[in-house]
Amino acid sequence: MIVGGWSLIGAAPAAIAKAPSVLYLTWMHDPTTTMTVQWHTTTEDPVTQVYYRKVGEAEWRMQEGIYQQLPKTNLLVHTVELDELVPNGEYQFRLGGRKGEYRFRTLPDDLSRPVKFVIGGDAYFYLATMRKMNAQIASCDPDFVVVGGDIAYTNGRRAVFKGKGWELKRWRTFLKEWKSQMVTSDGRLIPIMPVLGNHDIKATTLKPMSHHFYFYDLFAMEEKGMPYRVLDAGNYLSLFLLDTGHSYNIGGQQTDWLKKTLSSRENVAYKMAAYHIAGYPSVYPFKGSGPKRIRAEWSPLFERYHLNVAFEHHNHAYKRTHPMKASKIDPDGVIYMGDGSWGVTPRKPKHLWYLDAAAQVNAVCLVTLKPDASQVEALTISGQVIDSVMTLPTQSMVAWNEGQLLESY
Ligand SMILES: [Fe+2]
Repeated sequence: MIVGGWSLIGAAPAAIAKAPSVLYLTWMHDPTTTMTVQWHTTTEDPVTQVYYRKVGEAEWRMQEGIYQQLPKTNLLVHTVELDELVPNGEYQFRLGGRKGEYRFRTLPDDLSRPVKFVIGGDAYFYLATMRKMNAQIASCDPDFVVVGGDIAYTNGRRAVFKGKGWELKRWRTFLKEWKSQMVTSDGRLIPIMPVLGNHDIKATTLKPMSHHFYFYDLFAMEEKGMPYRVLDAGNYLSLFLLDTGHSYNIGGQQTDWLKKTLSSRENVAYKMAAYHIAGYPSVYPFKGSGPKRIRAEWSPLFERYHLNVAFEHHNHAYKRTHPMKASKIDPDGVIYMGDGSWGVTPRKPKHLWYLDAAAQVNAVCLVTLKPDASQVEALTISGQVIDSVMTLPTQSMVAWNEGQLLESY
């Protein structure tokens, strides 16, 4: 996505056009040294340039990117990837020729400061509900947010009745809200990492890119049409973003990739996964084909490689399972949390043997990563923390930390 290198210029040019209503950040590559900036304009404004500088530096740099016209519209999606950034760096940026100045921060390359992120799913069903939850999320000042599928509810029966253009309008409403709400108390835009859900794409096909899907047009990814991927930050986090059968089958190619990718990250301190359908559902049937497939294909890998937490959604409730191993409660097992109740009407969770905590409430999970132990809290729409769990880094990381401490004595 990088188009040539950046160039150094003295000052950003004068802004003439108004600020775009849709502007968002995401990552295609290393979140400690890159940032991907995306925004929408009409075809009349094809300028795809970002001017940026580290806070405190005098000179601006300019990076060009690419744009893509959304089929059958006059809208352009602009994408510029900034690279060679400093870890834990605060940056200012402007869009070429446009008003507005924004800020972002890269992730640190170690946990010398805590890293915070939020994971939730099933977001924009009701606008008012999503807005309330968005406000709670932004007030936590997270480094980034993962939306675990069913982002804007653009596919489904509702779409059939709403007519032409409705899907894109809904996506853009979601993104406009993101721009205005997902800003930290010190003015940073909060990057989004999207995960595919059944209402984000036509569920009738498993042939990615054979149809026109806004999900893939709107969100830059390392490989277009490849929704499963891993976000690696330093040696402290590997976050697996998976596809529960909406573009790719759960098993086969995706599971092979997961196995290979997990096995090469054994020494990463925290390993987590986020995906849409739940292997341990709080509302939908345990014996459903999706849940069964997740438990058969992915759970053994999560257990073998000691995943800290698997974040699941789609059920519209809050849940946390007991640690699970080989389909039994086991202190050495994996915890499954979430269940997707960001901006929907929450459902009543069932009383199930594998659930340790559950509630009929709008909630998301707030993760705070620290070197010795990390915390995952359930944050409700009214700002209460109703549940909390502690998770430890891998044994190898603990040993490594101890080794470092001993050496320094
Ligand atoms: Fe769903």
